[in-house]
Amino acid sequence: MSLPSSPRVVQIGLAGLGNVGAGVYKNLDRNRALITQRTGADIQVKKIAVRDLSRPRDIDVPADLLTTDWRDLIADPDIQVIVELIGGTTQAHELVCAALRAKKIVVTGNKALLAERGQELFALAEECGMPIYFEAAVAGGIPIIQVLQEGLVGNHIVSIHGIINGTCNYILTRMSQAGLSYQDALQEAQDKGFAEADPTLDISGWDAAHKAIILASLSYGFWIPQNLVHVEGVQKVTLTDFAFAKRLGYTIKLLSVIRADADGRVEVRTQPTLVPLSHVLASVSGSFNAVLVNGDTVGETLFYGRGAGQDPTSSSVISDLCEAAAVLIYGPRHSGFVPHGLYGKSKPIEDTVSRYYLRLTVDDRPGVVAQVAQVLGARTIGISSMIQPEDLEDTSATTSLVLMLHDAPLGAVLQAIEEITALPCIKEPPAWMRVETLLS
Ligand code: HSE
Repeated sequence: MSLPSSPRVVQIGLAGLGNVGAGVYKNLDRNRALITQRTGADIQVKKIAVRDLSRPRDIDVPADLLTTDWRDLIADPDIQVIVELIGGTTQAHELVCAALRAKKIVVTGNKALLAERGQELFALAEECGMPIYFEAAVAGGIPIIQVLQEGLVGNHIVSIHGIINGTCNYILTRMSQAGLSYQDALQEAQDKGFAEADPTLDISGWDAAHKAIILASLSYGFWIPQNLVHVEGVQKVTLTDFAFAKRLGYTIKLLSVIRADADGRVEVRTQPTLVPLSHVLASVSGSFNAVLVNGDTVGETLFYGRGAGQDPTSSSVISDLCEAAAVLIYGPRHSGFVPHGLYGKSKPIEDTVSRYYLRLTVDDRPGVVAQVAQVLGARTIGISSMIQPEDLEDTSATTSLVLMLHDAPLGAVLQAIEEITALPCIKEPPAWMRVETLLS
C-alpha cells in the first residue's frame, strides 16, 4: 500500500467549538504538514456549528465557516466526516444518527452518549456502513481505544483498572497531598477547567463509569447495560479516611474496575477505592489518568497520560480524523465496535468480590468490638486487621474503629453494614470503601 501521489482532500464538519473543538481546529492546523505526510490526506474544516456566533474565542476562525445549525454540516455534500463535540445526549444523538444516515463518518468524544446508547448507535453505523470513532471519549489523550481495538486484539482481557476521571483524581490528590477540604479541591478542579460543564457527572462517578462502560464493551464484545454498573462518587471520601488509609499503607483513588470471572460474567464498577501506596496507580496524581490492562497473552500493560484538557483530548480527535481519512482513501475496516458472543452476561453487582475498608464511630466501651465481629462472622466475612487509635487526651465517649475485611461479596458486606449500623453502640453511619490489592 502506498500513499496517494498528491494529498487527498478530506473535508470535515465540526459540531461544537468549545474547549476541545477549538483544540482540534488549532492543532490540525499546527501539525498540518506532518498529518498530511503521514496520512496522505489534507484534512480541512469546511464548516463549524456553534451555539453563539458572537461568543469571543481564543482562536481565529474565518466567520464564513460558522453556522448556528448543525444540520448545515449534514446537508453539505462535500463534508465526509462529522465531528460531534456538542456534548449532552439529546441533540448529539440526533446529530450522530443524521450523520450516519447521510453516509458520513462520525468522530465523537461523547462518552455519555455512547455509554447510554452505544448498542443502538453501532447497530445504525453497521446498517449505514459508516463507522463511529471515539478515541477522545475515554481518558482524554491516552489512545486506549486503539489499544483495545488493535494493539491487544489477540488477547482476552483479564481485567482493567483505570483512573479515568481527571477531576476526581485532582480532587483526591489535593485532599491527600495538601489536606484540602473536598469543597476547596473541587473548586480548584473547576477553576482549572478539568470538570464537565455540570461537575455532578464527574463527582458522582458517572463520567468515569461512562468511560468504563465503553472500555468494558470493547473488551467483552457486548454493550454493557448501564443499570448493571455499580457507581459511587468521591463525595463520600473524607480527610479522616485518607489519614487511616495512609496508616494502613494505602491511598484512595476513584478506581474503575472491569473484569470477567471464570464463567465469563463481566463486572464493571467505579468507586472510591483503597489502592496500596506501593502500587504504581497510587502515584497517578492530579488530572492525570492511567489505565492498567491485563491481557491473557500480553500480561500487564499500563497507559498513562493527560485525561482531560484541550490539547490532549484534541490529539485523540485528530487521531480519529486520520483513521477516518484512511477509511476514505483505502476503504473501511470496522464500524468502531465489533460485537461477539464469547461473553455476554453482566455479573450482578452484589456478587462482586473484593476486600473492604470499614470505618465505624462507636461507643468507647468494652464489648463493642465483639458485637461488630459477631455480625461480620455470622456472614463469614473475615477481618484482616483492625485499628482503634489510642488518644489518651481524648475524653469523648466515642472512638473510631477501622477494620480491613477479607475478600467478600458486596451483597453480604452491605447486609452486614446495615446490621452494624443498627447496633446501639454505633454512633454515626459507617464509612466503607473497596480495597484493591492489585496483585496480578
Ligand atoms: N471531566 C472529565 C474528567 C474530562 O475530569 O476526566 C475528560 O473526560
